[in-house]
Amino acid sequence: MGLQMTRAPHRPGLLCCLALALTGCGFDPGPGAMKLSLNPASEKALADAPKERAALEVLLERLFGTRAGPRYELIDAWKEDGTDPKHPDRMLEGGARAEFSPEQWSAIVAANRERLAYEISHAPNADSSAALADTYPSLAESAELFRTQCLHCHGVEGGGDGPTGATISPKPRDFRKGIFKFTAVKDKARPRREDLEELLERGVDGTAMPSFLRLSLPEREGLVDYVRLLAIRGEVESLLVAGFQDDEEIDDAAAAEALEIVWGRWQKAREKVIAFDGVVPPDSPAMRARGRELFLDPKRGNCVSCHGAEGKGDGALAFKTDAQGRKTPAYRDDWGFEIMPRDFTSGVFRGGSRPIDIYRRVYAGINGTPMPGIGETKGPDGELLLSHEDLWALVHYVRSLAERAH
Ligand code: HEC
Ligand code: HEC
Repeated sequence: MGLQMTRAPHRPGLLCCLALALTGCGFDPGPGAMKLSLNPASEKALADAPKERAALEVLLERLFGTRAGPRYELIDAWKEDGTDPKHPDRMLEGGARAEFSPEQWSAIVAANRERLAYEISHAPNADSSAALADTYPSLAESAELFRTQCLHCHGVEGGGDGPTGATISPKPRDFRKGIFKFTAVKDKARPRREDLEELLERGVDGTAMPSFLRLSLPEREGLVDYVRLLAIRGEVESLLVAGFQDDEEIDDAAAAEALEIVWGRWQKAREKVIAFDGVVPPDSPAMRARGRELFLDPKRGNCVSCHGAEGKGDGALAFKTDAQGRKTPAYRDDWGFEIMPRDFTSGVFRGGSRPIDIYRRVYAGINGTPMPGIGETKGPDGELLLSHEDLWALVHYVRSLAERAH
């Protein structure tokens, strides 16, 4: 018996009601039509290559299934890691290689116990791990939850092209590039599982991306699995199309190779965590003053160039002048949308406002945007441009700008 998503109906928020209204006008094909389509970019690239287009569809479906039957069957590495989402008991034998920490796992068990209190009370001999195996959602259940909770913004294939997305800024994330902004990792690595978990708990402040704390923990874990499926599928798809443009075949061998490359990227995330194990220099007027100095110094932090002298997101680099002499945003993000540096005086941090969140943002930059990471930037003498103390001074200063908004 699987998790019955209908047993505990979710209260739809306003936007979900909007989505329901929109599904009425034919955007969402509903649970009946379950195909995952190709990326419009692939359609364009393969417009004159019907054979390859068909091969791409077949291969993607073989690797990732459909919405009704999503799968990761061919990701051997995923299974070897003990993280095949199709096998809900995977963590029980995963040991040190498992993706969940023991604390997370007990939290999942506890959440399931609570949710299943009724059933368990009627089956007093039920083994808790069996109950857990029954309730960790299958990928198909998570795909269905994605359909009701996320699809109207993020789109059927996670392309960020759901109907609600058309009207909001920033746009919902297109997962298919594998680029995620608010993670704890550097070097543009893929997100760790925990990064996506935290995101679903927290939402993205100041944007339309809500918190999903109202869902159960296993439901959120299942959604993380499904977001990863869509992202990996999207990356494999674009690698295969890029290969075709380089005169390579779209066949089994190419698909296996693409999968290995993409999965390799996701596995690297673990080695890329920005941890700070020193003592965080406490916030103080002196630290803030030092932070402000670095913020303004064109040879050191140079944050002023984008964020402006008062941190209002109005630095000189943020704008360009168009043919009519109007000031328009100078930057676009990796998805092609205009983007402005953050106005810190708005008091909102999208990637979390804890000091360590801001530290990670400043250290590694924000993926997919012009916001640069400065944690490992070298100065003219080949030494690190900023010390850890300098970075924390910037963190305290930037946070102090936001504080004033409250
Ligand atoms: C009302 C629209 C909306 C809904 C519903 C929504 N999202 Fe989002 N989501 C967004 C927006 C907007 C962003 C981009 C925020 C940004 O770029 O700062 C986003 C970003 C994300 C990201 C990327 C975060 C990062 O660090 O780059 C993930 C993952 C995500 N959403 C998952 C989900 C999942 C899973 C659901 C359903 C459980 C969901 N979203 C529902 C609007 C939505
Ligand atoms: C080239 C332009 C540029 C420079 C230089 C720059 N930033 Fe940014 N910064 C941005 C953009 C663009 C964003 C918004 C990204 C987004 O919306 O996802 C941003 C966002 C941020 C955020 C917001 C994080 C959040 O969670 O909302 C912080 C903090 C930040 N920058 C700090 C700094 C600091 C400190 C410096 C100097 C060391 C700096 N930035 C230099 C462009 C820049």
